[in-house]
Amino acid sequence: MKILVMNGPNLNLLGEREPNIYGGDTLKSINSEIQEEAMAMGYEVTFFQSNSEGGLIDRLHEARLDCAGVILNAGAYTHYSYAIRDAISAIKIPVVEVHLSNVNSRDEFRKNSVIAPVCCGSIAGFGKYSYILGLYALNNKLGGNDE
Ligand code: DQA
Repeated sequence: MKILVMNGPNLNLLGEREPNIYGGDTLKSINSEIQEEAMAMGYEVTFFQSNSEGGLIDRLHEARLDCAGVILNAGAYTHYSYAIRDAISAIKIPVVEVHLSNVNSRDEFRKNSVIAPVCCGSIAGFGKYSYILGLYALNNKLGGNDE
């Protein structure tokens, strides 16, 4: 089974972007940690990052054909992209929303996620471990065991 780990705008700059908020790890190093965990669970993982809404939507559409589920950090699109929300609704595979930072303790606009209602759950505030926790949550949704 294949899982898609998808990151939205500005997350390509992890490591140099506001490290006090998002941590010092690069996206590449976070992705390799996810890959290791996922492989141990028996999943194949594919990674995708885009700064554009259309790119993210196109990849979500493709995922419905070749992936069992998605771990998604939609970045700022989380807070206002009805188009990404509709794409998540349109594909029938489970999508777990993740955020590195605790979006509920920051600016007012970050407290609202327009994608949360169509995701199977949300994890925020644990830095790179949000992705790992997302992986465990997705594994559980997909019926994998928790060992
Ligand atoms: C983020 C939180 C968003 O509010 C922000 O726009 C991001 C990153 C996070 O991972 O904490 O780009 O999704």
